[in-house]
Amino acid sequence: MKTIKLNDMTIYVAKNYDEMSQKGAEIIAELLKAKPDAALGLATGGTPVGMYKELIEMNKKGEISFKEVSSYNLDEYYPIEKTNDQSYDYFMRDNLFNHVDIDINNTHIPNGMAADCAAEGKAYDELVRATGGVDIQVLGIGGNGHIGFNEPCDVFDPITHQVTLDERTIRDNARFFNSIEEVPTQAITMGIGTIMTAKSILLLASGKGKAPIVKEMLLGKVTPQVPASILQFHKDVKIVLDEEAAAELLSEIE
Ligand code: PGA
Repeated sequence: MKTIKLNDMTIYVAKNYDEMSQKGAEIIAELLKAKPDAALGLATGGTPVGMYKELIEMNKKGEISFKEVSSYNLDEYYPIEKTNDQSYDYFMRDNLFNHVDIDINNTHIPNGMAADCAAEGKAYDELVRATGGVDIQVLGIGGNGHIGFNEPCDVFDPITHQVTLDERTIRDNARFFNSIEEVPTQAITMGIGTIMTAKSILLLASGKGKAPIVKEMLLGKVTPQVPASILQFHKDVKIVLDEEAAAELLSEIE
């Protein structure tokens, strides 16, 4: 697989979505073999689904175990009940937790029904801080450069907080709903500061729709208008792209 070093970042260019998913799963499996009680920062969205499928297979074959793992998800819609099949709580159970040997009590997702979002954010940050920083934070990237639900804005948000979703995010996520009107307009997300406490970062991106923002994140200036650009300042970042998502980056640097 083509591998590119860019400052402290390692970029892997996989042929397609399946190879990207496999590479992402290998990186997590390697961590779990070295540290069975790892703290995983997890993400939702279309991108990591294939990686979760690979991890489920590895777990079924006995190659990896989640018995001692704890997990901390990036974000949740607000307000939304855990039982709603559009909640990220439901997504994680459906796409990973129900199919591996993780103890569900060790999985954490911001509470989409919190009465007080500021208090929820503070408590969530304390939980994450107690891990000493998650060992690896899985990220996707929004077409607008968001990570978690940190939308483009004037400042990097340090802490877990309530957000109003960008119009672009609502449009992008409408594909998971019956209509755009059903997409929640609010969410609770780990802040950029929370994300940056992760010991390592694994960002996945697939498809040509992500090609412009991938280039911008890695080669553009670091700005809260492209929240993912902050990753240029993290010391241990792995980016796994498929060829389509890598296309604009590669045409710039090669
Ligand atoms: P996607 O979302 O994986 O569904 O493209 C990524 C994101 O919004 O972070």
